[in-house]
Amino acid sequence: MQIFFPKEEESENRVSVLPETVKRLVELGIKVEVEAGIGKTLYLSDDSYKETGALISNKRDSSLSSSDITCRINKPKKEEISILKKNSIHISFLDPFNEIELVNEFASSHISCISMELIPRISRAQKMDALSSQANLGGYAAVIEASRCLNKSFPMMMTAAGTISPSKVLVIGVGVAGLQAIATAKRLGARVEAFDTRPAVEEQVKSLGAKFVQIDIGDTEETEQGYAKELSEEQIKLQQEGMKKVCSQSNVVISTAQVFGKPAPRIITKDMIEAMKPGSVVIDMAVNSGGNIEGSVPNEYIIHNGVTIVGLANFPGEVARDASLVYGNNLFNLLDEYWDSEKKEFNFDLTDEILSGCVVTHGGEIVNPMVKERI
Ligand code: NAI
Repeated sequence: MQIFFPKEEESENRVSVLPETVKRLVELGIKVEVEAGIGKTLYLSDDSYKETGALISNKRDSSLSSSDITCRINKPKKEEISILKKNSIHISFLDPFNEIELVNEFASSHISCISMELIPRISRAQKMDALSSQANLGGYAAVIEASRCLNKSFPMMMTAAGTISPSKVLVIGVGVAGLQAIATAKRLGARVEAFDTRPAVEEQVKSLGAKFVQIDIGDTEETEQGYAKELSEEQIKLQQEGMKKVCSQSNVVISTAQVFGKPAPRIITKDMIEAMKPGSVVIDMAVNSGGNIEGSVPNEYIIHNGVTIVGLANFPGEVARDASLVYGNNLFNLLDEYWDSEKKEFNFDLTDEILSGCVVTHGGEIVNPMVKERI
């Protein structure tokens, strides 16, 4: 059984596996191959991977076509799918609801592909939950970026030269990223407020010492997995009305609102930004899925009326060392959970709740009910 970790695209700072994770895989009895230069963005030499038992591949295509499992962070290019060994396994983030062409290519190439976004949100799968491990660090990095862009300090300071007021931070969407953003902004001494459409969140916000913004938008629902359901147009309008004042009084707005499998809701409009004080900062953590903020552009900093709109598309990549460590651990935990140490193979049991949730294609077909339904 051979696992291959190819290098990511140039724009990605994160690495899918660190030398310490290679060691744990080798201890399971798996042959691990990594592409030469895989750790370059983290200043990790090929020798450091060799030392923990990896083989170094200088021939990406040949490793892709000979490996039983290929693991990476980001989705592959379509051309690379047909190179993969028939009936092998491919594990990565995949964005399967929007990447129908890739999904079809995996199916027709007889590759079993696992989408890391679809790991179910159940207790047994928490150790494999890469959406959470990355969103947590993303929430932290977003606050650090906001404090860097803001022309004001986060904490209150009482100095001989005068008193500096604390910054006001508003967090919209209190899932994994939002909770970490609240905690980080609090640690930095900001005054924090937050809003989410799921009422259950109010207690969590308060337990972090932040204030929950009350907006009456009528009944809201959540899925079995705890995801928010889409709001109606009318509800979004009520939310915008309710948020306008609190936005205008905030120095920083960090928006993380997502609706699973759907485009992100558009929450902050241009006129809400125009009502903010010049020098304020808004961060759109949903920029990859359509954006919560009008005018945000992936990987750009746009200044509108003196307000900086940050559209960084890869916040976990800003803390790439730690994001790589936890992503590699998520992969290891997934492989370890289904590793049959006697047969020395991955136990592809599609009756298992976790695998049936995250496997998208298998045996030449699309097997995931949610993805099938979309197609
Ligand atoms: P997400 O990334 O899908 O969305 C972020 C947040 O945006 C969510 O809290 C959602 O309610 C909120 N949101 C959606 N529309 C909004 C709007 N119009 N205005 C304001 N907020 C809006 O969420 P994430 O971080 O993936 O978490 C989803 C759920 O999964 C949460 O309930 C979380 O606690 C739960 N979870 C459970 C785990 C488990 O193992 N049991 C592990 C990780 C998360």
